[in-house]
Amino acid sequence: MAQPQQRRRILIIAAVFFFIASAFLCVTRLYNMSFIRESKDDNSKSPPPLPPRPVHHVEITDADRPMTYGTFRRPSMDGLTLMANLSDEFVPTFENKRRLVIVGDIHGMDASLETLLKKVDFNTSKDHLIAVGDMINKGPDSAGVISRLMSLNASAVRGNHEDRILLSLAEAENLSGVSKDLASLHDEDRRGQKEFLATGRKLKKEHVEWLSKLPVILAVEPLNMFIVHAGLVPGVKPELQDPWAVMNMRTLVYPREKLRGKGSRKSSRSDDDDDEEEASNNEAAPPPEEEEEGETLESIQQKDAYTDRDTIIPIEGRDGEKWSNAWNHFQKRLKKSHRYTVVYGHDAKRGFREDKYSIGLDSGCVRGGALTALVVEGKEGSKRGFTHTIVQVHCKEP
Ligand SMILES: *[C@@H]1O[C@H](CO)[C@@H](O)[C@H](O)[C@H]1NC(C)=O
Ligand SMILES: *[C@@H]1O[C@H](CO)[C@@H](O)[C@H](O)[C@H]1NC(C)=O
Ligand SMILES: *[C@@H]1O[C@H](CO)[C@@H](O)[C@H](O)[C@H]1NC(C)=O
Ligand SMILES: *[C@@H]1O[C@H](CO)[C@@H](O)[C@H](O)[C@H]1NC(C)=O
Repeated sequence: MAQPQQRRRILIIAAVFFFIASAFLCVTRLYNMSFIRESKDDNSKSPPPLPPRPVHHVEITDADRPMTYGTFRRPSMDGLTLMANLSDEFVPTFENKRRLVIVGDIHGMDASLETLLKKVDFNTSKDHLIAVGDMINKGPDSAGVISRLMSLNASAVRGNHEDRILLSLAEAENLSGVSKDLASLHDEDRRGQKEFLATGRKLKKEHVEWLSKLPVILAVEPLNMFIVHAGLVPGVKPELQDPWAVMNMRTLVYPREKLRGKGSRKSSRSDDDDDEEEASNNEAAPPPEEEEEGETLESIQQKDAYTDRDTIIPIEGRDGEKWSNAWNHFQKRLKKSHRYTVVYGHDAKRGFREDKYSIGLDSGCVRGGALTALVVEGKEGSKRGFTHTIVQVHCKEP
């Protein structure tokens, strides 16, 4: 009869131990959360340094901290350049009469690019050509496109296709012997990999070198303009953006809002009738002497911290809010001189798309659509303003 009693005692001891351990973990955990919040409120100017570790043994990693997308820098990828500034000599002003000719996704359609440049009367002595990424792959002449861009001393940003092709080439170069055979066994698992390699191998060494140096974000600071392939997350400084997202995003999701079951007011509104009356882009910035309303990036970040929208995740799919809608909405909260226009490509399905602070240039050339150029010129009486026109040519499906 002693045995069941003993067993019961052991069970009770185990239960008590378990209870105490859980209570301890709970308390230390809660203590930590409030600790971080307090230190954030205290020095609201700069983000809090890691708090001194309280004397207990629950490890808090960065991944556990309440965080906003872009708060922490992602480890850099293989020789990837995140940002570059367009050289001042190419920036159009009203006085210098220069032009920027920014071209949407070319995808190896060299003949269409040639036709488009003729149509805009491109002249290297006063014009500068910029490609928004996805210059190569899919179409018939990727090498021809890169040769042409290089010979015109063009600028460009890295698109998802350039990125994948450069990674495939680097990976293939690394493999040899047995590992090469093993990798080819898995080729079916890696959709598109063969196509990327085939395109990559048609490029010359200097093409690959030129591509590998392209930045993910090209800034034209004097015009308050960013050029990227896919998009940018609003409220996050460009130097803190995730390069993968900048090359691939289509929409944004707000996990905290979803968690609370609020649905997403903004992601459900129809983006195609959003702010139509403002869809002219002739005034990127006002003359500087004007008294400015609006906020700074930092003050908005502080205001939005710990709200349902302080966590934003950019995704490739179309299930969230269009990133460009969020971008335009955010710019309108900023002081005018702090607002940036994003010129991008990537979204052939949506096609050419112009909003006040974003212009999408992928009009599906390689699928028999059009190749689009945004021609940017300086604006009279405005230091940072610009005017623009759109020029398109039809593409023959290859
Ligand atoms: C670009 O120019 C800005 C100032 O206009 C400067 O702060 C920034 O460091 C430059 N970025 C790069 C990558 O050179
Ligand atoms: C290119 O522009 C320069 C300067 O405006 C001009 O002198 C030249 O004739 C132009 N070239 C062509 C082929 O139009
Ligand atoms: C080519 O572009 C670079 C900067 O990207 C510039 O420094 C150089 O002067 C340009 N060369 C010509 C011939 O325009
Ligand atoms: C190539 O190999 C080097 C050294 O083995 C490695 O550090 C690098 O990550 C590899 N690159 C790729 C793209 O696999």
